[in-house]
Amino acid sequence: MAEQVKYVLEENEMPKAWYNIQADLPKPLPPVLHPGTHKPVGPDDLAPLFPPDLIMQEVTQERYIEIPPEVQQVYKIWRPSPLYRARALEKALGTPAKIYYKYEGVSPTGSHKPNTAVPQAYYNKKAGTKKLSTETGAGQWGSSLAFAGSCFGLEVEVFQVKVSYETKPYRSIFMKTFGAQCYPSPSDRTEVGKKILEKDPACTGSLGIAISEAVESCMKSEVPTKYALGSVLNHVLMHQTIIGQEAISQLEKAGDYPDVLVGCTGGGSNFAGMCFPFIGQKFRGEAKKSFRVVAVEPAACPSLTKGKYTYDFGDTGHMTPLIKCHTLGHPFIPPPDHAGGLRYHAMAPLISHLKELGELEAVAYRQTECFEAGILFAKHEGILPAPEANHAVKGAIEEALRCKREGKSEVILFNLCGHGNFDMAAYDKFNQGAMKDSDFNEEDMALALAATPKIAE
Ligand SMILES: Cc1ncc(COP(=O)(O)O)c(C=O)c1O
Repeated sequence: MAEQVKYVLEENEMPKAWYNIQADLPKPLPPVLHPGTHKPVGPDDLAPLFPPDLIMQEVTQERYIEIPPEVQQVYKIWRPSPLYRARALEKALGTPAKIYYKYEGVSPTGSHKPNTAVPQAYYNKKAGTKKLSTETGAGQWGSSLAFAGSCFGLEVEVFQVKVSYETKPYRSIFMKTFGAQCYPSPSDRTEVGKKILEKDPACTGSLGIAISEAVESCMKSEVPTKYALGSVLNHVLMHQTIIGQEAISQLEKAGDYPDVLVGCTGGGSNFAGMCFPFIGQKFRGEAKKSFRVVAVEPAACPSLTKGKYTYDFGDTGHMTPLIKCHTLGHPFIPPPDHAGGLRYHAMAPLISHLKELGELEAVAYRQTECFEAGILFAKHEGILPAPEANHAVKGAIEEALRCKREGKSEVILFNLCGHGNFDMAAYDKFNQGAMKDSDFNEEDMALALAATPKIAE
């Protein structure tokens, strides 16, 4: 008999509020600090960068924030997103585990990023912003903000990490088609970019550098401009919680509850989006059973597994406030890696905090083993994952193989946060055996960590 594969929700079952884990944390999040005074930042410090609603969402302790009807309307283009049971992959692995994945690649831009791009554009429009400036790694976030800007009539300017700009030309064409400007970073459009290029004309860029350029460009703009960030910040992670809330309802329909949650982590937003609603249930004593939470990161940029938990800048050029996070040091430039969206020196404060509280585990895998896992998944499930998502696939397969060794039929849930249909250059390289695993250099990290600010705590 044919078995059920897809668990879908009706449009009217889509969650009407985002979940804010800050309301349920057993210990509050360390404050964001002003880089000059080392005192907690206030709303006035953030006002040049973000509109009032998003500043409020960054600090609120309310458990739920209503999703504005205008945002719900746009979400309905692709939400609720499907939950799949990876039955074919389970069979191929010969595992007694049940593998479920939430698929965010059904969004207009192919990943989870529009879940926050759309509300960020909406709140900016509401506040009178005319233009948004941002960075992007692989181009998923830049594409999503370009789409969101076109939904609400905002100009969008994107600084894309140069190595991705060059290896993935279709992403910048996508952004430009939606009316956005897209520049390779480091660029000569900002002082930060010019200084970096002077020192290293061949610099391949990093998310830290692109953030500095986007913030500088925002501050210098002559039209009312704000900055938008695709990950890391509390409000961004909160917007993504629609993923996990939907997954809870879908798993209920399947009659299951996870033993293990797996997600890939760059700045942490897709991982948080899937896991926080479950972790919240645990904090409130409402979880149906105990579960593990596993963050998977690239071995080439291992902020959670190798980084130091300390205050650091969110960018290379010292334009941002100081956040308490697991960091490789803000000057650290990760080696070029095909999972461009995971090339970030630091981790979201909320995820770092939960790691310190022992609420999640972290593992790091090399990119070639992640591509192998992604291709195995694609051959059985039919979806070619984004290189970032391959890390989550690898993590889930490792858990399924552990279940096989231990003879356990655990329920594994992972977030397939995007498809890889724009990533053919990377798959081509892999297929030709030309993909190399970059080594993580501990000395580079030590040097970069020496530059983190000294805060009296
Ligand atoms: C498909 C995809 N997955 C994951 C990430 C990493 O970001 P985050 O950790 O915020 O989900 C990115 C970032 O660009 C991405 O494009």
